[in-house]
This record gives sequence, structure tokens and C-alpha cells, in this order.
Amino acid sequence: MDRQNNMELAARLIQEGKLVAFPTETVYGLGANALDPMAVAKIFALKERPSFDPLIIHIADLDDLKKLTAEVDDRVYLLAEKFWPGSLTLVLPKSKLVPDIVTSGLPTVGIRMPANEIARELIRTSGRPIAAPSANKFGRISPTTANHVRKQLPDVDYILDGGKTTVGIESTIIELTEKGFRILRNGIITKEDIEEVLSFDDSEKTESIVAPGMVKSHYSPVKKMIVADKNIPVDIDKSKAGLLSFTGKYENGYRKIIRVSESNDLKEYAVNMFDAMHTFEDDSEIEIIVAEPVAETGIGKAIMDRLRKAEYNWRKGSSEI
Ligand code: TXA
Ligand code: MG
Repeated sequence: MDRQNNMELAARLIQEGKLVAFPTETVYGLGANALDPMAVAKIFALKERPSFDPLIIHIADLDDLKKLTAEVDDRVYLLAEKFWPGSLTLVLPKSKLVPDIVTSGLPTVGIRMPANEIARELIRTSGRPIAAPSANKFGRISPTTANHVRKQLPDVDYILDGGKTTVGIESTIIELTEKGFRILRNGIITKEDIEEVLSFDDSEKTESIVAPGMVKSHYSPVKKMIVADKNIPVDIDKSKAGLLSFTGKYENGYRKIIRVSESNDLKEYAVNMFDAMHTFEDDSEIEIIVAEPVAETGIGKAIMDRLRKAEYNWRKGSSEI
């Protein structure tokens, strides 16, 4: 299929119930018309994603929010005003318009207005809200370039190429509670950022605290991966290892090194993290991927969440759900 950046074609394919991968500022999404259950089913099939893992719907205008949600209180507009378009997903009560397959049968739906203009143009040109998970196979490394998408999902109907994404990790997901908000997934928009608008709800949650689909193993390369600084386990052969280096302190002895940030900047780590993991995954000289950890505050939380999930299979020897 023609893979030129043709917005009209991409929008038509969405209308016809096909799958279009497109850039958002966080990671590439695998998009389908959110209101067409057959089209959404194709997302689950191509990604090999379990049906219990709900999708985020992407919108370009606030009017769509009203159509897709059952009731929206003023706090939602406060959040939208501050963070949209941008990397914040709000989990809200869904309207009847949203097919159950999108939400895995939940009464709530995740909604986000992406900052990437190609993404918003696709939504506007197709005239459809777009359901999209990250455009990777389930559990594998998230895509931050069109090439990453091609590598894992060669059979996608179309890819809009917007270059490398500018945030690099998936959106922050929150839900609203009576007292304020809870974080279901960390991202570049931090708890502290959101607290400028709403208070954080630190009360115990009775049900499971994680979002469905937030399994312990995720974002994983097909190679061994560990998170380690100077405390490298003795059985690691550094001459076969690639390092995601942050501070530059631990670079001795590695076969290859990718400096994920030249200036010790966590935002830069986030931007380059998945790309560096893809590079080492594709490199036949590298058998083990080592990532330097960061302090778990602010954006560091989002980075460490992903690194821990990426190493989980190998450390624990199983991919438990
Ligand atoms: O940045 C992003 O959020 C990217 C881009 C493409 O927008 N999308 C993304 O989608 O990361 P995905 O499917 O890889 O992760 C979405 C996660 C699900 O795994 C689930 O944990 C959570 O969002 N989620 C979606 N709907 C939910 C709901 N109704 N309740 C709780 N969690 C939900
Ligand atoms: Mg994902």
C-alpha cells in the first residue's frame, strides 16, 4: 500500500474502518474509528492485545468530549484548559455512543486531546474520534518513530509519518474522585503539575489501583534488559551489553553506549528511552540492554515505571499478569 503522508487517504481509511498509525506527541498510536466496533476489533487483533485492556479515545475538539462522556463536571474543563491539547488522559464515565469493545466493558472511557497537529488533523479530516493504543505489539517496546511501527506492525493499513515524537513516553492517565484525582499511569505531566488544578486523593482504593492492562511486564525488548547503575550483577558480560547512559558515570566497559540526555535532563531521557531500547534491540552485537536508573520523583517516576516493566521478564523469570 502507498505509504506517503497523505492525510486525505489516511482520513478516508479511518472512515472505511481501516487502521492508521499516526504520530502523537507521546508515542505513535494505532488508530481506528472509535465508534465502529468492527474497526476497533482490528486494533486488538493486529496488536495481539488482550480484550480486557481498554483503549484511549483521541479527540480534536471539546465538543467531542461531551458526546463521548455521560456527565462532565467543571473540574474536567479546568483540566482540559490547562493540559489539552497535551499528554493527559482523563478516565470519565462514558456515554452510550462509546462501544463496549473500546472500554473493555468498563463504564468509563479514557479520553485525550493530543498536542501533535498531524493527530488532530487526522481526527478532524476523518470526522471521527479515534481510538488508539500505542502502535506496538502488546507488551513490546512503544514506538516513537514511524520505523518502530513498521518493525512491529508491518500489516497496518497506513502510517502517517510525523518524525520522532517529542515527549517519548505515554500520557499520564488520571481518574477523578470525590476528593480530587488519582493517577493510573505516570507520564510527563506529573502529580505536582495536576495539583496546581486539583488536589491529590491519597485515600486507599478498595479495588485494584492500577489501570486495567497495566501488567507488570510491558514495554519490553525481546532481549534481556536490566536496570542498574554501578551495581551490575556479576553475570553480566558488558562486552555484549548496550547502556542507556544518563549521568555518564557508569560507561566503562560497555560494548555500546547511548547517552539518553546530554544535559542530565529527565525530559530528554523520556524522549530517547524507547528509541534507544529499539536501537539495541535491533543491534546484533548487543545481547543485553542495561539502563541507568533515575530518582523516582516527578518525571523520574514515569521513566522508572517503564524501565522496571521492561526488565521484569528477565529479572523475575516470568511474564506474570
Ligand atoms: O500517550 C498515550 O496515551 C498513547 C497515545 C497513542 O495516545 N496511548 C497509549 O495507549 O498509551 P495504550 O493503549 O498503550 O495504553 C492505554 C492504557 C490502557 O492500558 C489502560 O491501562 C488505560 O489506558 N485505560 C484506558 N481506558 C481506561 C479506563 N476506562 N479505565 C482505566 N484505564 C484505562
Ligand atoms: Mg501501550
